[in-house]
This record gives sequence, C-alpha cells and structure tokens, in this order.
Amino acid sequence: MPTTAKATSLQIAAFCFALTLPTAMLSAQPAGFNYDEAKVPAYTLPDPLVMADGTPVTSAEQWPKRREEIMQLFLEEVYGKAPGKPEGLHFEVFEQSDDAVNGKATRKQVRVYFDADETVAMDILIYLPKKSVEAKKPVPTYLSLNFYGNHTISNDPAILLSESWMRSNKEQGVVDHRATEASRGASASRWPVEMIIDRGYGLATVYYGDIDPDFDDGFKNGVHALYDSPAKDGWGSIATWAWGLSRAMDYLETDAEIDAKRVAVFGHSRLGKASLWAGASDPRFSITISNDSGCGGAALSRRAFGETVAQINKTCPHWFCDNNSQYGNNESACPVDQHQLVALIAPRSAYIASAKEDTWADPRGEFLSVVHAAPVFRLLGTDGIGGQTEMPPVNEPIMHTLGYHVRTGKHDVTDFDWNAYMDFADKRWGK
Ligand code: GCU
Repeated sequence: MPTTAKATSLQIAAFCFALTLPTAMLSAQPAGFNYDEAKVPAYTLPDPLVMADGTPVTSAEQWPKRREEIMQLFLEEVYGKAPGKPEGLHFEVFEQSDDAVNGKATRKQVRVYFDADETVAMDILIYLPKKSVEAKKPVPTYLSLNFYGNHTISNDPAILLSESWMRSNKEQGVVDHRATEASRGASASRWPVEMIIDRGYGLATVYYGDIDPDFDDGFKNGVHALYDSPAKDGWGSIATWAWGLSRAMDYLETDAEIDAKRVAVFGHSRLGKASLWAGASDPRFSITISNDSGCGGAALSRRAFGETVAQINKTCPHWFCDNNSQYGNNESACPVDQHQLVALIAPRSAYIASAKEDTWADPRGEFLSVVHAAPVFRLLGTDGIGGQTEMPPVNEPIMHTLGYHVRTGKHDVTDFDWNAYMDFADKRWGK
C-alpha cells in the first residue's frame, strides 16, 4: 500500500548517503569507534529497582510504580510518545489461499487502514500451518517487520509487490526507491517460512516503510501525516514502527485462526530496536525477540562500544525523539539505559541475540542488558536468566524467562537464530 510518502529528492539523497555509512560496513568495524573492552569507560547503570526518590523496590507490589517511572523516561528521553489506537482503524483481508508453502500453509494478506478515509495503510502478510487452521487450533505466531516489502520474504508470486517508497538497494531489487519484480524473495534467507510452518508456528510480517518511510522528513510522511508534528518528546520512527506492530496486533486479535495470547514480536537490527520498544510498551506481546539490535536496542549505551548515541543520532536523527540527541557523548546524563528497556518487558519473556562479528552492535553490551534486567524478572517471581552472569560460549543459547545467544558470524538473521527462537517459544509456551 503506498503511503503518503513525500520528501524532496534532496532530503532523500542526504539521508540515503548518511545511511550507507554504517550499513555498508555492517560486518566490519566502522573506524573511529571503540572496539576495545579495555577502553570501555567506567560507568554506573541506573538501578531498575530503586525509585527516583531513592526508595529501594523490594517487593513485586512496588514494581508497577517503578515501571511507570522508567516508562515515562523512555517516552520522554529516548523513543518519544506515540498516540493510542486510532478511531478509524479498520482491516480488509484482500487476498487469501489455502494452498501456500508447498501445500502446507494458508496465506492471507490484510490491509490495515489507519484512518477512516483510507489515506494511510500497511499490509500484513500471514502464513499459518494448514493443519492447525483445518483443526481450528489457533496458531501461535511470530510478528515481524521487514526491510524491503512483504514480497521479499518469499518467492511466492501471489504476494502483492509493494508499491511503497523504500531505500534503494540493488541486491534487494529496489530501483529508484521502488521494488521491482527482481526483489521477490530477495530476503528469503532471513525468513525460513517452511521451517516455521513445519514447527507449527505462524508468521505475520509488515513492510516497516508502510508505517513510516525511513528517512528524516520532519515527521510528515507515513502515519505521521495523520497527526500534528511531534514535540521534542514526540514519536520518532522507532516508536512509530513499534506503534505499527501494535496495530498489527489489533488485527491479529480479531483473527480467530491466530492465538493472540501467544504472539512473539521479532525484529532484526533497527527493527529489533522497534520490536523491543513494542514489547516494552504493549503487554499483549507474550514474547519479545531482538536480533542484533545494538545501539538504541538491547546494547547498553553507557559502554559506548561500537555504535554510540552520538553517532546514531547523527546518521538517523529521526529514529528517536529530539530529546535523545543531548545524550550523545554524554550517555551517563541519560536517566535510563537499555537494560531498563528489557526490564519493562518483565515478567513476560524476552530473547536477545547477538552475532560474534557484529561488534558495531556490541554483543557484550546486549548480553549485559539481559543480566542487569534479570533482577526485575526475579522480583516478579520468574527465573530471569537463570543466574547467568558470564557471556555463554558462541552458539550455546541460554533459555529461561529471558533468553540469550551469541552465534558465530555477522549481522544477519540465520536459521540458527530462528531455530533458537522456536526452541524458546516451545519452552515458554509449553509446546
Ligand atoms: C545501521 C545502524 C544500526 C542499525 C542498522 C540496521 O548499521 O547504525 O543502528 O541497527 O543500520 O538497522 O540495519
């Protein structure tokens, strides 16, 4: 669905230039940043279990109040405040089939209109195991945003080719900011649809640019077109993408074939930042998964290892609320750090994953967020991360209420990651 994406070609060019810097060097280490553990500055993390006035939080009953304090800080200083569910929200299933994925799945494509006048919308592509649908067993489902259109996740010719604006990318078959037929299935290696269906799970996915095209246009395009320009603590793009995930959840709750009580919100990289914020701000997500989300996602900002707050606000200023830029090179002044984002998800489950070569995203910083969020999970009566304080060896996932792995290889989503996420869901949901 084309959104009301409007930007001058100058704005787009400027942003695309900025984005090529870190993206092109994902598996490498962009120069001028710290990758040396010995050079991580000394830092003190804000304690998720101490109230702003210094009162220690020692019982589960005190947590909602402390949670609210932390939530407000993330809203005001990091991601920005989003509106609630729009009144005009409505859905249209515009295509479906019971013969997808080699006859093993059903397929559904749903348009989610954000307003009564149908000016802005996003499309959800849904695959469900046919066996479960026929047996009328609601399906536990992964919900995730994708980078280049729903049609890139599979070669299935019935998937509507996105007409939305997207970042140009030859490998993904995107020319002049529009998808071409060559982009069908271009991201399939990150989406093992058949494997997911074989394990009894559903998959629902949305192109993130349908919600908010990924360039800095002063918050005018995508769903922002329906609202006034945000204030300094107004929703940045990460909050907007997370808001879109909640709107997708609004649809999933209406679909009897889906088990809305067992939805895992998943995202990679910037979309992992969005999935974490969606999981933190919307308690309907039973499991939250962040894959290589790095700075502004699972990684602790105070470590300033790999990508920093200053750098991310320079290359991608629209991702956060305007207040966030003041913490560039001044991370300790920020009243929150990213372990508290993970803590906001408690006592629901969260899984954080890193890749060994993805030093830009600071694997250790991602693991430490889990460790420092764990006391909140324990206070709420769960097993947290099972008492683990040392980073596990590569390719050895740890799975408790919190899960974590660091796998070999680079910034990517692999079958190893997906297998771990499904093993985790099997455990958490007792499958
Ligand atoms: C850049 C950016 C990261 C982000 C990544 C992505 O590398 O610096 O913060 O996670 O893009 O989303 O692909």
